[in-house]
Amino acid sequence: MKFTTNYKENNYEIIVEYGALNLNYDFTQYDKRIALIDEHVYGLHSVAIESFIKQHHIEKMLIPFGEQVKTSAHYIKFTEQILTKRVTRNSCLFAIGGGATGDFTGFIAATVLRGIHFIQIPTTILAHDASIGGKTGINATTGKNLIGAFKRPDKVIYDLNFLKTLSQTEKLSGFAEIIKHVILSSTGNINESKSLLQLMNDIPDKHALSHLNEIERWITFGIKTKMQVILEDEFENGIRKHLNFGHTFGHAIEFHHKLPHGVAVLHGIIFALILSDAEKSDLTIVLTWMKRLGLQRLNFEEFNIYNKLMQNDKKNEASHINFVVYNALTGFHIRQFEGVQLQQTFEMLRKLEGEFL
Ligand SMILES: NC(=O)c1ccc[n+]([C@@H]2O[C@H](COP(=O)([O-])OP(=O)(O)OC[C@H]3O[C@@H](n4cnc5c(N)ncnc54)[C@H](O)[C@@H]3O)[C@@H](O)[C@H]2O)c1
Repeated sequence: MKFTTNYKENNYEIIVEYGALNLNYDFTQYDKRIALIDEHVYGLHSVAIESFIKQHHIEKMLIPFGEQVKTSAHYIKFTEQILTKRVTRNSCLFAIGGGATGDFTGFIAATVLRGIHFIQIPTTILAHDASIGGKTGINATTGKNLIGAFKRPDKVIYDLNFLKTLSQTEKLSGFAEIIKHVILSSTGNINESKSLLQLMNDIPDKHALSHLNEIERWITFGIKTKMQVILEDEFENGIRKHLNFGHTFGHAIEFHHKLPHGVAVLHGIIFALILSDAEKSDLTIVLTWMKRLGLQRLNFEEFNIYNKLMQNDKKNEASHINFVVYNALTGFHIRQFEGVQLQQTFEMLRKLEGEFL
């Protein structure tokens, strides 16, 4: 399936299908073409990747796999290497890997020569989210994604064949953002709406997730939902903030426990649902389903550790913490919470995870 974004200008194409890498492309408008490839993904898909890069005369640069690449040291190292290749503003970087590779490569593309071209070739379920919307960046020692830039790709080529080699944990992690997009779509702000029950029906447990049942349909839905939000609010002044549902607490535990992003977001979604005063019966349904999907209870530490990290989150002002919460009457909105309320929510989360996961 092919879509095009609907910005006023500089639109780009998003291609999502099994075998997307083998379609006809012409990249000859770029004077230099360099692919930054997650080394782990390269090891698993070298035949497909080599065939693609040879056909299009793309130079290869393997980068450390996953989240570990998103440091300032790697940023400097690979940026310097790219500069030795005498790139110009007409050159293009290709990001082949998950969300971390996309964020990292996109940030280099945004800053080398104050901006060169880049193309996303996502290889995880989670990257359906990360590759859309133009947010790029790396981590700081004080928190995740604190150094970054907005940079649209020229194209997104999403070949679903990559997903077959994902571990079960990475499948679960990517699925978290699909769950978030479905919850967001139910607000009425989004043209097409689907319910969590429909998603639960299609993907009831970890076996269905492992077999990637109906994944093309749900990834496409996730992309369309995210696209609609970012078309309305590219620079996160309004509705785009809702995409952070589950992420404030999620980022804190991701950073502290070194969890896969989406796994942390699943715990964060439960936290946000409690904070939103969700009905106990709804929480029971969601937690039971998450257990079936394979989510495991987290060995939480003291609340203060997470509280400090949440205060560092870039969406917060000095004295309070902003959360995206959901209310059946008003939909999603941002609310400020103080430490006591957050601590109570945290204790409830710990109790519910103990009961259900
Ligand atoms: N820019 C955005 O809008 C945005 C949105 C959401 C998340 N993110 C970022 O995305 C990152 C998380 O993305 P992710 O979960 O894709 O993580 P990732 O890129 O770290 O990949 C996760 C792991 O899966 C491996 N992997 C990737 N593709 C694979 C494949 N096809 N088969 C087997 N293994 C494979 C990687 O080597 C890595 O070990 C985080 O850094 C997060 O901050 C960005």
